[in-house]
Amino acid sequence: MKIRAVYPGTFDPVTNGHLDLIRRSAALFDDVVVAILSNTDKTPMFTVEERVEMLQNVVKNLQHVSVTTFGGLLVGFAEQINASVIVRGIRAVSDYEYELQMALMNRRLSAKVETVFLMPAETYSYLSSRLVKEISALGGSVHGLVPAIVERRLKRKHGQRS
Ligand code: PNS
Repeated sequence: MKIRAVYPGTFDPVTNGHLDLIRRSAALFDDVVVAILSNTDKTPMFTVEERVEMLQNVVKNLQHVSVTTFGGLLVGFAEQINASVIVRGIRAVSDYEYELQMALMNRRLSAKVETVFLMPAETYSYLSSRLVKEISALGGSVHGLVPAIVERRLKRKHGQRS
């Protein structure tokens, strides 16, 4: 039986930590659908279209990985695309409480979908999209923390030279 995993998130923007998890997921499951939440409460820096474009660019050489958007309940989307696994990353213990709450609620909503937690490489354990945006907005370097396309897009957003 082939196992499809969905890796959901806001990806505003995708970081090297996300990419590390996508790679790990692709090595574990038959195919991985990276799913960008389109109707988030948060006010994103990048539009959904921009996030899709950046993600598609960074996964273009990875086999069995696709990028899409979703709205509504994550488990509903997972069932719709026949994904039996939700992948979420855990960087530190502080992530665990929120992730456990979501995983158990998702399990209550659908018994067909199992959440799997993966740890990124420790180099990325302190990395987040929020910090990347903050550093970049204040003129700091995010080199090595995000893929090259994201670094360029961040500079463009902030009117900096690449
Ligand atoms: O990258 P994020 O912002 O931590 O991702 C959060 C995400 C998109 C996985 C979560 O907000 C989500 O699943 N939203 C979809 C709506 C939903 O299913 N809510 C119930 C969760 S128990």
